[in-house]
Amino acid sequence: MNYTLLSSPLQGFTDFRFRNAQNKYFGGIDTFYSPYIRLNGKMIIKPSYERDLLPENNMGLEVIPQVITNDAEEFLFVAKYVQQLGYKELNWNLGCPYPMVTKSGMGSGLIAHPERINQILDRAHSETDILVSMKMRLGYENSEEILDVLPILDRYPIKNIAIHARIGKQLYKGGVNLDAFQLCVDHSKHKLYYNGDITSVAKFKEMQERFPSIDHWMIGRGLIADPFLPSMIKKDSTEYPDNKIELFTAFHDTLYGIYSESLSGSTHLLLKMYHLWEYFSLTFSDPHKVLKNIKKAKSIRNYEATVASIFKSERFKR
Ligand SMILES: Cc1cc2nc3c(=O)[nH]c(=O)nc-3n(C[C@H](O)[C@H](O)[C@H](O)COP(=O)(O)O)c2cc1C
Repeated sequence: MNYTLLSSPLQGFTDFRFRNAQNKYFGGIDTFYSPYIRLNGKMIIKPSYERDLLPENNMGLEVIPQVITNDAEEFLFVAKYVQQLGYKELNWNLGCPYPMVTKSGMGSGLIAHPERINQILDRAHSETDILVSMKMRLGYENSEEILDVLPILDRYPIKNIAIHARIGKQLYKGGVNLDAFQLCVDHSKHKLYYNGDITSVAKFKEMQERFPSIDHWMIGRGLIADPFLPSMIKKDSTEYPDNKIELFTAFHDTLYGIYSESLSGSTHLLLKMYHLWEYFSLTFSDPHKVLKNIKKAKSIRNYEATVASIFKSERFKR
């Protein structure tokens, strides 16, 4: 069956720099969601959001912008803004689990308020012609919350609903709830996308077998940990290319180079790289040791030497 692979957004990771580098060195992703725009009460788009979405920074990439809000005016403002940049679709985040977001009734904290969702969708569909898609969890407190939202979504020409099969309260702990995802498939007339814990070719195949009607798959953390993953899924192969470490080195050096230009000071740069390595290290032979060494590198010189030695020893092990 034909299928589409989408990069699930990770704030702080999948910005335009990451998207371009992933696409250049590894490919395999059909569509990238950009991390969400949050207005924080002011009708102003921050320059960092703007940079992330400018068409010239996303040449050759299929990108869908995302917003997080519980306010119709904000939704309409962001919709108009992304349309001006040439985008046809706006994805609405009802998935974010962090208390700072959910306590103010946004992200997965909005799922328990179907009427509010209805009001916003009503205005979005009567006052703009933007295509709306959703990204949701199953609920915040429990996985039944979404079942009261799906009939409301059925009233609108929503493009699709991507579901991360966890509840907000879980954050990222525990497993995905596949039975609850199946219930959503059974109770929605819309096209559903699956999201959650696709970290290997084997896991992808397991999900494909479990949900034969799903043909859109979103990969979040698994793409940072292993940027080869989407192309391996597409090739239906668990074999890495012979030049795996060379490719990964080029990818790393590209990101490192761009971030050293765009971030101010070595502390910021090293922190950014450390956060990336929290994921990168997972596909190295000894993740714990790799991350420990990166953490110990407190200067640019140390960091560069540490990375060179990690790549060298990984090459030697193959
Ligand atoms: C650090 C971090 C930042 C994230 N930022 C966003 C975001 O901006 N928008 C969004 O829809 N999801 C965001 N997510 C959720 C992921 O897109 C994805 O739904 C989730 O990690 C489950 O998929 P996975 O198991 O493939 O990672 C974020 C997740 C993490 C860990």
